[in-house]
Amino acid sequence: MRKISPSNSNKPRSKNNLSANKTLATVIDKGKKVSVKTAKGRKLSSTNWLRRQLNDPFVKLAKHEGFRSRAAFKILEINEKFSIFKFGDTVVDLGSAPGSWAQVAVDKTNADNKIMTKKAGRVLGIDLKPVSPIKGAEFHVCDFLEVDFSLRIASLLSVPADVIMSDMAANSTGHKKSDHLRIMALCEAAAYFSFDYLKPGGNFIAKVLTGGAEMNLQRTIKSKFKKVINFKPKSSRSDSSEKYVVALDFIKQ
Ligand SMILES: C[S@@+](CC[C@H](N)C(=O)[O-])C[C@H]1O[C@@H](n2cnc3c(N)ncnc32)[C@H](O)[C@@H]1O
Repeated sequence: MRKISPSNSNKPRSKNNLSANKTLATVIDKGKKVSVKTAKGRKLSSTNWLRRQLNDPFVKLAKHEGFRSRAAFKILEINEKFSIFKFGDTVVDLGSAPGSWAQVAVDKTNADNKIMTKKAGRVLGIDLKPVSPIKGAEFHVCDFLEVDFSLRIASLLSVPADVIMSDMAANSTGHKKSDHLRIMALCEAAAYFSFDYLKPGGNFIAKVLTGGAEMNLQRTIKSKFKKVINFKPKSSRSDSSEKYVVALDFIKQ
């Protein structure tokens, strides 16, 4: 497992109390649509992607607020609604690249010790890809599905985690059913991991795709947490079948 040490670089410009919706209302230039012409050598799918990126208000807002990706607003919305993080928390961020969830988690747990009178948290990110340093977070390049992953993480976590969150997604194959199964496998692995490594009272969040196979897993999660909600943040694209399982207050059996 390769460790990438934190540095002072790359701090979100985000204010502590950033509210995705409020900020959205004030910052986004809703009217102007950017048109993208098809260019020689560029596939239609790439042109469509570029058009969507350039016209996506959350992409613009992420840039404005200093977040590495629009995904930051999903976890901000989840936190705003369900109060996931508190100062001093230990957070495991599964599928952390490029790092926007980690940026939010550092801010909300005081992992960068920005407020010296409050308890400092810890943010531990895991991804197949390297993540550029974020002050207050540590990143490890590894495959969460490796057999010895749990042993590795156990050696890194001195105390059980307060929050385990997974935004893991395998690259799309373009085949809906296969993509669904792959993402559910990641979610299931993350859920079982949380049963072993969460503190009683801890919270678990994971990306799932709607499509059927998630019902059994939901039942298992419901038996381990006091409250389980399926939540689709406004910042999650409406044409995506993605949603998040938000499981609150872990019951250690
Ligand atoms: C949607 S991105 C996460 C975005 C991130 N939450 C953020 O805010 O920047 C999904 C990530 O899951 C990672 N991933 C997929 N399968 C994984 C695995 N088996 N182990 C670790 N990371 C994985 C991918 O490499 C990708 O970076």
